[in-house]
Amino acid sequence: MTHIISIINLKGGVGKTQTSIAVSEFLATNYAKKVLIIDLDPQTNATVSLMDENLWLEHDKKGNTIFQLFSDKVYNTELFNVESSIVKNVSNIGSGIKNLDLLPSSLRLIDIQDKLPLVSNSGYFVRTPITILKEAVSSIIKNYDYVIIDCPPNLGLITLSGIFISDYYLIPTIPDILSTYGIPQILTRINAFKEDAGINIKPLGILISMFRANNRLHKSIIDSLKYRERRGDYPRIFDTYIPLSIKISEAAEFQSSVKTLGQKYGYDLYNSYNRLVEEVIKYVE
Ligand SMILES: Nc1ncnc2c1ncn2[C@@H]1O[C@H](COP(=O)(O)OP(=O)(O)OP(=O)(O)O)[C@@H](O)[C@H]1O
Ligand SMILES: [Mg+2]
Repeated sequence: MTHIISIINLKGGVGKTQTSIAVSEFLATNYAKKVLIIDLDPQTNATVSLMDENLWLEHDKKGNTIFQLFSDKVYNTELFNVESSIVKNVSNIGSGIKNLDLLPSSLRLIDIQDKLPLVSNSGYFVRTPITILKEAVSSIIKNYDYVIIDCPPNLGLITLSGIFISDYYLIPTIPDILSTYGIPQILTRINAFKEDAGINIKPLGILISMFRANNRLHKSIIDSLKYRERRGDYPRIFDTYIPLSIKISEAAEFQSSVKTLGQKYGYDLYNSYNRLVEEVIKYVE
C-alpha cells in the first residue's frame, strides 16, 4: 500500500522543501521504504538539491519534468513520459540513496501555471487539470511505499493536483506569527476542496520547523498552537520539533561530499528527523 503525503504551507520559506527531502531520505535509508518525491514547485529547490544540475538540464531539455506534463494539457501534446522522467537513487549522499526516486520540476513550470485554468475552460479536454497528476503517475505509484509531494507556497491548480492524490498533508511551520497565520486558511480550503473533489485527504500534523529553544516568541506560539490542537481546531502538533541549524545550508548543496545522513545533518538534526519519521510511520501505517 502506498502512502501519499503533501507537504504544504501558504507561507514561503517555512521548511516545506527541507522537510520533504529529509523525511524522504530517512524513510528510504533508515526504514527501508521505497520513496518517490514529486517536486511540484517551479522554484525547483527539491530537484536541484537532490540531483546533478547537468542531468536536470538534460531532463528539462527533453521534457522529462513535471513541466511537460502540464504543458501537454495546455498545448494538446503527448510528450510527457513518467518512466523516463523519474530519476532514480537521488540525494547528495554518496552516489545517491537506493530506494529514493524523484519526479523533477522545471523553472518553465512558472510559465505554464498561469495558462492552466484555460484547460478546464477551453472545452478541449474532458477532464479538469486537477486530475492531471493522478493520471500521469497512477501507473507507477504502486512501486512505492511513500510518495512525498513538495508543494509551492500556494493552493493553485498545480498544488491541488497534488492534494488530489494525497492521503495526508503535513504543514511545516516556523513557530512565529507570520508562518502560522495561514494555517486556518489551509485547513478550511483543503476541507472545501476535499468536499468538492470527493477525496479523503487527512491532516497528518503540524511540524514545528526551525525551532529556537531559547526564543520566547517560539515558545508562546507553540503554546497557542497546542491550545488550538487541544480544542480540536488544529490537527496534531508533532512531538518532534526540527531545530534551527546551520548544518542545513551545507546539507542542501548537491555538490557536498557527505556520505551518510549523520554527516549530512549532524547529531541534533539527524535525531530530530529520525524521530519525526518514526512519528510519521506510526500515524500512517
Ligand atoms: N532546520 C533548519 N535550520 C536552518 N535552516 C533551515 C532549516 N530548515 C530549512 N532551512 C532553510 O530555510 C530556507 C527555507 O527552507 P525551505 O526551502 O525548506 O522552505 P520552503 O517552505 O520550501 O520555501 P518555499 O516556500 O520558498 O518553497 C532554506 O534556505 C533552508 O535551507
Ligand atoms: Mg520549497
